[in-house]
Amino acid sequence: LPDLETAGAVRRDLRAAPFLVAARGGTPSRVPVWFMRQAGRSLPEYRALRAGTGMIQACLDPELTCEITLQPVRRHGVDAAILFSDIVVPLYLSGIGVDIVAGVGPVVARPVRTAADVEALPTLHPEQVTPVTDAIRLLTRALGETPLIGFAGAPFTLASYLVEGGPSRNHEKTKALMRSAPAVWHALLAKLADSTSVFLRAQIAAGVDAVQLFDSWAGALTERDYRSFVAPHSAAVLGPLAAAGVPRIHFGVGTGELLGAMSEITDVIGVDWRVPLDEAVRRTGGTHPVQGNLDPAVLFADAASVESEVRRIAAEGRAAPGHVFNLGHGVLPETDPDVVTRVVDLVHTLPVR
Ligand code: CP3
Repeated sequence: LPDLETAGAVRRDLRAAPFLVAARGGTPSRVPVWFMRQAGRSLPEYRALRAGTGMIQACLDPELTCEITLQPVRRHGVDAAILFSDIVVPLYLSGIGVDIVAGVGPVVARPVRTAADVEALPTLHPEQVTPVTDAIRLLTRALGETPLIGFAGAPFTLASYLVEGGPSRNHEKTKALMRSAPAVWHALLAKLADSTSVFLRAQIAAGVDAVQLFDSWAGALTERDYRSFVAPHSAAVLGPLAAAGVPRIHFGVGTGELLGAMSEITDVIGVDWRVPLDEAVRRTGGTHPVQGNLDPAVLFADAASVESEVRRIAAEGRAAPGHVFNLGHGVLPETDPDVVTRVVDLVHTLPVR
């Protein structure tokens, strides 16, 4: 690997990369495939490398981040790498007390629930992103022809962790704040949108080839509430990034009822496993490339079932102007990595149109 002293930002010319062609609605040379959470606990080489290092600590170590990001690319031959990081990393870098507890998820030291809490919340400055941009500069050199996806958590999903203080099933404190104190809510989401913009802009400047905005928990909302309390803030993040020319992907879990609204503010629409891709295409007006849809739990079934699900999704994906094969959510930690590799190999044999 080149060292950081000599590594400037490189913008690679990857116009023919299947992932980028499909994400722009073109016809790629093969169906591109990558997996949310492709780096992580399903890989023994990840578990070995992470031993003794905390999750956030690992995300702030450029060499370690680079190596972990490369592991699934080497092992599976996927068509894109996703930066190894976490949605709470920009919160941590801005000075918010947050940790990632193994088996639990993000835990916030002092939950944000009042106007004063929101007022006191720091926002991210570009110079605080250096550990992440250093990792990106290492990666764009190490990856060759493989595109690198940068990402961030969307304002609503970040707000849920901050308001609840940790993972939540029902998001009740978050929804209560949204309704009871709309001005405080909008001030909080505006601040989170600001930090998210800084984080994604820094990643793009450092060389990522696409960005994905994860609004993982937006599916907990009605379309009406999504449109009035959330979408304007996600749009404030994604809208200005259009000028950067990198494809923007927007994803959430259980967002079947929100696909239309979400598609209005992005290029590529991420789809979980509940809505078939051809139906997602219908709900988004036929204009957007689609990504996702294989139920992560299907990878635990017998080989014939995995194969038939992969073939079905590839066929339904042909209804879209572009199809990026992916799971409907992240790779589950107990997944057999050999099954993941076999899915990649199969997808690469399937016709594009
Ligand atoms: O996809 C990738 O390979 C990139 C890595 C990535 C991680 N987190 C690494 C991680 C990405 C894209 C994320 C995003 C993220 N983090 C989201 C949005 C995507 C989604 O899954 O919906 C969310 C909601 C989080 C918050 C978070 N961080 C959770 C729920 C957890 C799991 C907690 C647990 O231990 O079960 C984390 C921790 C985390 N982030 C791990 C990884 C690999 C596991 C920690 C470990 O390996 O010790």
